[in-house]
Amino acid sequence: MGRRFLVGGNWKANPKTIEEANKLIDTFNGAQVTADVEVVVAAPFLFLPLLKDRLRKDWAVSAENIYTKDNGAYTGEVTAPMLNSFGVGWTILGHSERRDILKESDEFLAEKVTQALNKGLKIIFCCGEHLEERQSGQQNAFVSRQIEQMIPAVPEGKWGDVVIAYEPIWAIGTGKVASTNDAQEMGKVIRDILAAKVSPEVAAQTRILYGGSVKPNNCNELAAQPDVDGFLVGGASLDAGFINIVNSAEHSK
Ligand code: 13P
Repeated sequence: MGRRFLVGGNWKANPKTIEEANKLIDTFNGAQVTADVEVVVAAPFLFLPLLKDRLRKDWAVSAENIYTKDNGAYTGEVTAPMLNSFGVGWTILGHSERRDILKESDEFLAEKVTQALNKGLKIIFCCGEHLEERQSGQQNAFVSRQIEQMIPAVPEGKWGDVVIAYEPIWAIGTGKVASTNDAQEMGKVIRDILAAKVSPEVAAQTRILYGGSVKPNNCNELAAQPDVDGFLVGGASLDAGFINIVNSAEHSK
């Protein structure tokens, strides 16, 4: 079974106003997608009902995070059943900004993975090393550990709802994109772990995205790598250039 190319836009804490969010939605809705590609737009919770309402229906809407519980005394949190009731089918989990700034641990993220999948959400699970690990040659070990901690959290029969995004932290928002070799190599490392620790079938079917300074001018070459099954796009998902990245699916093998 071929892996359908997937491009995710991660708006992070953007844009600042509902007016700007509406403008971006208009831009996306008016654009022509020429490739066979699945598109998911992840946005701050406040904008999700707007996106569900107004975003083109051939694109999916995603949260950027969930809490581990269904509901209760957890001030400030938003939960999977709430997303269910708004028809939001996806969430990002484990983004490096949540791991590093919000101090989310592998254990906490594993709980979120189980909760999301048990509640019927699809997940984009992020992993990726800091510059420090890359410079000391520890990147494969670091990312392998993140994936190995996540694997047992995926409930039986739920691997079809899991997408993995490899996002080296030194490439996020820095304009410093990973080389095609680096992106391909880590995609392969992750796929090999899935083959060894889950099954060859799951390894063959799971989409592994690359994220980190993906732009219209570097996406085509990356898309052509055998173990790059799509992108998770931050900054460049906030303007019309996102459409060029979506259409880079035409360059995938
Ligand atoms: P940039 O595309 O802005 O580097 O961000 C990547 C990212 O973190 C997507 O989740």
